[in-house]
Amino acid sequence: MEPIISIQGLGKTYAGGFTALNNVDLQIKRGEIFALLGPNGAGKTTLISIVCGIVNASHGKVTVNGYDIQRNYRKARNEIGLVPQEISTDAFETVWAAVKFSRGLFGKAPNPAYLEKILRQLSLWEKKDNKIITLSGGMKRRLMIAKALSHEPNVLFLDEPTAGVDVELRQDMWEMVRGLQDSGVTIILTTHYIEEAEEMADRVGVINHGELVLVEEKNILMQKMGEKELSLNLPEPLQKIPDALADLPLSLSGDGSQLVYRFDVKSEDTGIAEFLRRLNAVNIEFRDLHTRESSLEEIFVNLVNGARREREELLSKETQE
Ligand SMILES: Nc1ncnc2c1ncn2[C@@H]1O[C@H](COP(=O)(O)OP(=O)(O)O)[C@@H](O)[C@H]1O
Ligand SMILES: [Mg+2]
Repeated sequence: MEPIISIQGLGKTYAGGFTALNNVDLQIKRGEIFALLGPNGAGKTTLISIVCGIVNASHGKVTVNGYDIQRNYRKARNEIGLVPQEISTDAFETVWAAVKFSRGLFGKAPNPAYLEKILRQLSLWEKKDNKIITLSGGMKRRLMIAKALSHEPNVLFLDEPTAGVDVELRQDMWEMVRGLQDSGVTIILTTHYIEEAEEMADRVGVINHGELVLVEEKNILMQKMGEKELSLNLPEPLQKIPDALADLPLSLSGDGSQLVYRFDVKSEDTGIAEFLRRLNAVNIEFRDLHTRESSLEEIFVNLVNGARREREELLSKETQE
């Protein structure tokens, strides 16, 4: 099946000369929840803003459901609902007036039955005649989603949907997003919370310094995230990993006084017993040992750095050739 969004060679250099996106290629599959994960300033909002036609790209091509965002802007934009990072609504409007107005902006014929459906789906129907100013924070967020869906888009962008939101609200939001996916909407959310990507996404793209460093099925990413470390303090530092242990996932740290063994928490056999036995066989002693779960933050940083190293190696190879 054709991707619903296709992004090729996308680049953005802002007027001041700052490059916020560099050569991004990305395809979004129909019906998936895709999480664009990256630290603040990575370029997530810039990417979304380009796809939604709010910011002009410096390079590259984007199509939404087959429509080029430049040549066929209106049609492309019609496919998309956007919930921006900042909540902004007219406080004195009613909920109903707000969604009706949003739909009208897209030149769509009125469809009260559809608007009722989305307000019900977002648990806002009881509030339809209330002024926005009277809504709780969570309700305001849901209203932003209702407005974004008012013109029946196929794709919904959620820019940091749960930034600064408490845990309970976050759970609500996640449930709602799943409901939207079930109703056939493709969802792209940006987040700097790894847990959010982990909880929600079918696929995850990691973006850093304007570069998409990794796109992966969530489940595969999770395996990589399930790593733990067993760290041994050695009375006599090692210069290098002994050849006899070279096949094991080992590294040295602390000037060689710590031997670190990585293992997968979820695998049936962690290999620790075998590791300790082989250590004994090569007469390496240790003082004490402790395990440590690699934190999600750390894995994220590792992923980003690892990908950068790979790319740099590739580049230096290319320039050598
Ligand atoms: N209008 C702008 N002019 C210049 N620089 C900008 C503009 N908008 C964003 N930037 C810069 O581009 C980078 C990416 O920003 P943004 O896309 O908002 O990142 P994110 O959403 O991942 O936090 C940041 O360094 C930001 O300061
Ligand atoms: Mg942002």
